[in-house]
Amino acid sequence: IVGQGGSQKVVATLPSGESVEVLLFGATVTSWKSNGGKTENLWVSEKADLTGTKAVRGGIPVVFPVFGPPPKSGHATSSLPQHGFARASRWEFLGKSTVEDALESDSVKLDFGLDRQGLSDEARKAWPLDFGLVYSVTLSKDKLQTVITVRNEGDESFEFQFLLHTYFRIQDISKVAITGLSGTEYIDKVLDATTHTQSDNTLKITGEVDRVYKDIKQDTTSITEDGKPRFDVVRDNVKDTVTWNPWIQKAKAMGDFAPDDGYKNMVCVEIGAVDGWQKLEKGEVWEGGMLVKSLL
Ligand code: BG6
Repeated sequence: IVGQGGSQKVVATLPSGESVEVLLFGATVTSWKSNGGKTENLWVSEKADLTGTKAVRGGIPVVFPVFGPPPKSGHATSSLPQHGFARASRWEFLGKSTVEDALESDSVKLDFGLDRQGLSDEARKAWPLDFGLVYSVTLSKDKLQTVITVRNEGDESFEFQFLLHTYFRIQDISKVAITGLSGTEYIDKVLDATTHTQSDNTLKITGEVDRVYKDIKQDTTSITEDGKPRFDVVRDNVKDTVTWNPWIQKAKAMGDFAPDDGYKNMVCVEIGAVDGWQKLEKGEVWEGGMLVKSLL
């Protein structure tokens, strides 16, 4: 663990140079370098708050227990802020372990935990349920795996949504394509908030994009740049994926988004379970996450 107070983070490096950094605040992965440590795979805003007072603009914020603005009333999450409390709570570092893999000699797993006791008074009041989260970040040569387990530790059932709001770093948005979503229905939050179907296998980003793809049949969504594979994002027990780029106006309007033209160097491909709700009965556990391959 390095740093002080709200800026404390866990840093792990493989002998071959790859590394990962996780801020305890939000258990937010703020850096993932592959290719012997030469390639940064995540975009973090130059104005991101990394002091533990505000959710990080960049990296991999963890969205839980609600995605987007919560339902206006009548749901247990209704009093929570947009995207829930996980990204703005201080998590506990549970420890580091090395994982033995027949094919991958070196890999390191970092575990983080958050439960009711770890919440701010405000969040605890807004979502008065007993839960336990364990978030595991595993770094191997050119892969990063991030998996959450959600446990219901209370006496009543609860409902939640979960999403990993990953900001992928790219060179030039005009050369980027997202593939592996064809045939999937999505809600277009920019256009009209209604359901459309992705017909083309290739999604190019030429303006503001904010789409919630639901119930995707394929396991993998890929990001290509200049026609070459850049990232494979493999869903693990989750079926939805959000694609987001704020583009010019929205980027400018966000106080913590910098530089202004940073939207050219990032694209969010956010896997999760956000279509409807996951329900957990007393004592039950749910697990979901992703495996990302950096293909540079
Ligand atoms: C995306 C949402 O997941 O997150 C967008 O689909 C939202 O609608 C974006 O604008 C960023 O959210 P926030 O709360 O980090 O500004």
